[in-house]
Amino acid sequence: MELRSVIRSVAHYVPERRVSNEDLSKIMDTSDAWITERTGIKERRFVESSEVSTADLGERAARLALEKAGWSSEDLDLIVFATLSPDYYFPGVGVMMQQRLGCRPIPALDIRAQCSGLVYGLSCVDGYVKSRQAQKILLVCAEVQSPVLDLTTRGRDMAVLFGDGAGALTIEAARVGTSDPTQRGIIDSFLGSDGSGADVLCMKTPGTAVPGFISQDDIAQARVHPYMDGKVVFKNAVTRLIETATTLMTRNGVKPEQLDLVIPHQANLRINEMVRTQLGLPPERVFNNIQRYGNTTAATIPICMSEAVEQGILREGALVLTIAFGAGFTWGGNLIRW
Ligand code: ACO
Repeated sequence: MELRSVIRSVAHYVPERRVSNEDLSKIMDTSDAWITERTGIKERRFVESSEVSTADLGERAARLALEKAGWSSEDLDLIVFATLSPDYYFPGVGVMMQQRLGCRPIPALDIRAQCSGLVYGLSCVDGYVKSRQAQKILLVCAEVQSPVLDLTTRGRDMAVLFGDGAGALTIEAARVGTSDPTQRGIIDSFLGSDGSGADVLCMKTPGTAVPGFISQDDIAQARVHPYMDGKVVFKNAVTRLIETATTLMTRNGVKPEQLDLVIPHQANLRINEMVRTQLGLPPERVFNNIQRYGNTTAATIPICMSEAVEQGILREGALVLTIAFGAGFTWGGNLIRW
């Protein structure tokens, strides 16, 4: 018998407020044609007001995931929260889930792997399961990114890409017999990082490397927004996503045609199309929803998973590959028998 991390439920929550490309073109020099052609994005969701935080979105998704699993918050023995947009500088958002959901005083930790948050999160959860430290786990991935975007022409290269949203999974340690034909659970994870890319995609202010942590000048000069060298990130993303998929398939003896569904991070539809073509996969076996949500960073893959389940595309027993690349650089993936 082997211990496997089995995904019992997945759910998502996105704010009601839709922001279309046309809406953005009214407040900055951009156009629906540019955004659609370069990224595939048609609209994204922004929180309705500055009162709504990452913990708020995460809690909504977490409650839905618990309900779908038929679990009480008291059943949980670990919370993992992935985000780049925490409520506070410290403490992390994981502890807020512990309190808000009314959990026992269980461990709660935050993951800072940006767009790779879900794939790092699942790998971390799998480690807790296999080392017998946790049995019922809540993994929450949520982002409120809209308040830090520079929604002017100066920040248009970044501002049009991102959205707000949340996804959550319940994961259970299950004993799986080697003769069990379903063999559900996380089969393998592959993670990587390259800190030489840290300055290429980042938000430095406020931060301890910044003189004075944050100054009036930083605000005046708009240094309090995310920065990206899009072309460098694009090239690295394509290379690392293909490397991740190939590594996970090769070391598990899986051929592309055996994958029922690939769920890539949603940073740019052109990136995902390049990866899909290189891997020789038909369009129906790669899930994309960037058109409706933009890049919701850590929340992206769980939102995709949740929608794929709702649409009947992702069913129990399916062989699924997640692949992600993001700031850091960080990248990775998970091979899962759903
Ligand atoms: N509207 C109109 N024009 C724009 C906009 C906009 N929103 N943004 C940039 N432009 C202009 C530029 O100023 C430039 O004009 P110029 O030629 O006169 O100088 C022109 O459009 C082309 O800009 P590029 O940056 O060369 O456009 P590119 O085709 O590279 O697309 C993009 C930019 C979409 C950002 C792309 O590079 C990309 O997707 N990069 C990777 C993103 C990614 O993978 N991120 C990782 C995850 S994010 C995370 O982890 C937090």
